[in-house]
Amino acid sequence: MPDAGRRETAHPITLTDGTTTRTREATPVDLAPVQELHHRCSLGSRALRYHAGKSGISSAEWRQLSNPERGTTLVTTPADRTDHIIAMTNVMRTDQQGVGELAILVEDAWQARGLGTALVEHAASVARREGHHTLTAVVAASNEPMLHVLEKLEATPTDTTGPVLDLRIPL
Ligand SMILES: CC(C)(COP(=O)(O)OP(=O)(O)OC[C@H]1O[C@@H](n2cnc3c(N)ncnc32)[C@H](O)[C@@H]1OP(=O)(O)O)[C@@H](O)C(=O)NCCC(=O)NCCS
Repeated sequence: MPDAGRRETAHPITLTDGTTTRTREATPVDLAPVQELHHRCSLGSRALRYHAGKSGISSAEWRQLSNPERGTTLVTTPADRTDHIIAMTNVMRTDQQGVGELAILVEDAWQARGLGTALVEHAASVARREGHHTLTAVVAASNEPMLHVLEKLEATPTDTTGPVLDLRIPL
């Protein structure tokens, strides 16, 4: 039974308010709850994630994100509601050996409770385990929460002149 298998390997994260969550690798069948996550997110959150005014995620995009050959996508659910996805974290391969690209989307209602920080730390462990030595992230210069999260991982911007920063995180 695939769901039971996923639960066994799920990574537990407890939020600052005590709520418990589970994070596991995504599979192609998660498309519908991932689309629902996107629809519940504000336009602002989606714009910060995609740097574009996107309303959702297409099945073609999800096929890429959930394809293990392209990288690892993690999905997070409340511990007591494992079919309800509240965050998506991507560590995707790039054309540079050992360099992965990190992106994350936490549903608005679940933000500012420590989930983003814990997911980025977990993503760094996953990336290390997969043999990456560096993560990159593209972050709007105005995105204080994400820049704050990445500061804790000693991320350094490679260019600070534009509205979007390219950061490198040593693993
Ligand atoms: C950026 C993001 C992942 C952070 O997730 P989160 O669950 O809110 O993160 P945390 O709760 O761990 O908070 C991280 C820090 O930002 C601060 N923060 C959170 N929301 C904030 C807000 N709206 N304004 C200011 N600071 C905020 C927190 O206080 C925390 O700082 P601390 O560690 O000093 O307490 C989440 O806001 C998000 O998904 N945003 C939309 C998509 C995005 O920006 N993705 C990043 C680019 S790929």
